[in-house]
Amino acid sequence: MGEALVRGLLQARLVRPQDVLVCDPSRERREHLERTYRTRPAAGNAELARRCSLVFLAVKPQHAPQVLAEIGPEVGRGTLLVSIVAGLPLPAIERHLGAPARLVRAMPNTPALVGAGATAVCYGGSATGADRALVRRMFDAVGRTVEVEEGLMDAVTGLSGSGPAFVFTVIQALADGGVQAGLPRATALQLAAQTVLGAARMVLETGAHPIQLRDQVASPGGTTIQGIAALEAAAVPGGIMGAVLAATEQSRALARKHAP
Ligand SMILES: NC(=O)c1ccc[n+]([C@@H]2O[C@H](COP(=O)([O-])OP(=O)(O)OC[C@H]3O[C@@H](n4cnc5c(N)ncnc54)[C@H](OP(=O)(O)O)[C@@H]3O)[C@@H](O)[C@H]2O)c1
Repeated sequence: MGEALVRGLLQARLVRPQDVLVCDPSRERREHLERTYRTRPAAGNAELARRCSLVFLAVKPQHAPQVLAEIGPEVGRGTLLVSIVAGLPLPAIERHLGAPARLVRAMPNTPALVGAGATAVCYGGSATGADRALVRRMFDAVGRTVEVEEGLMDAVTGLSGSGPAFVFTVIQALADGGVQAGLPRATALQLAAQTVLGAARMVLETGAHPIQLRDQVASPGGTTIQGIAALEAAAVPGGIMGAVLAATEQSRALARKHAP
């Protein structure tokens, strides 16, 4: 996810490669980033925090407390810290950091890798208007950005954070249906993925309600309404709602682990 952000920021020309410092314990990963993006390596997390006014925290949740403790002595009000760590609330970041940085919490998703991410952001009390504008520009460089209250971050995790996996399941099921109906596998997969992409773009670009768009396709006595009846009979809409809620609950459970 950190690499996706670096790529998006460079492609959008929001930063120059020589101004991006990267810290990763794996030499192979550091060399890959240097080779691919011309970024520069930092000797450690503390050095990176000392030299950068904007710091992204993009490690797994279990590594976050240690990394925050390492960078804590180097950050201050002059540092903007953007955490994308799932399930790590702003107060927990402040506690582990032990220092007063300007904080932003963001939840991107993996389509950021192809510039089509969905990111929700919320801000710590001391983040300024300029910080907010900058953070929006950065995440807009790898997709779309919305602002939410921190209390909604678990729901965001359940919807757009986990959502790509739900949609991959839908794409697979569409393709399986096509194969069952006689299409070659590769053709079915292309048609399924492009159909999901096209339907999503219609929702975003026309602003029309999904039900309105659905009704335009479902002519009386036609093929589509038969398919929709099958979806309803299999409780697919309720199943998808349940998946979002289950993922949200799991995110809440993980966040409780960080409660003081
Ligand atoms: N993937 C998603 O869909 C997604 C979506 C939203 C948010 N997130 C959040 O983004 C964060 C990163 O997720 P990811 O999927 O990108 O994980 P990842 O691929 O494992 O990336 C984490 C990176 O942090 C490095 N790292 C580990 N310990 C470190 C340390 N002490 N100092 C500096 N770097 C260290 C890892 O290096 P090594 O591999 O060498 O250990 C790895 O390159 C997570 O907190 C996750 O909750 C992920």
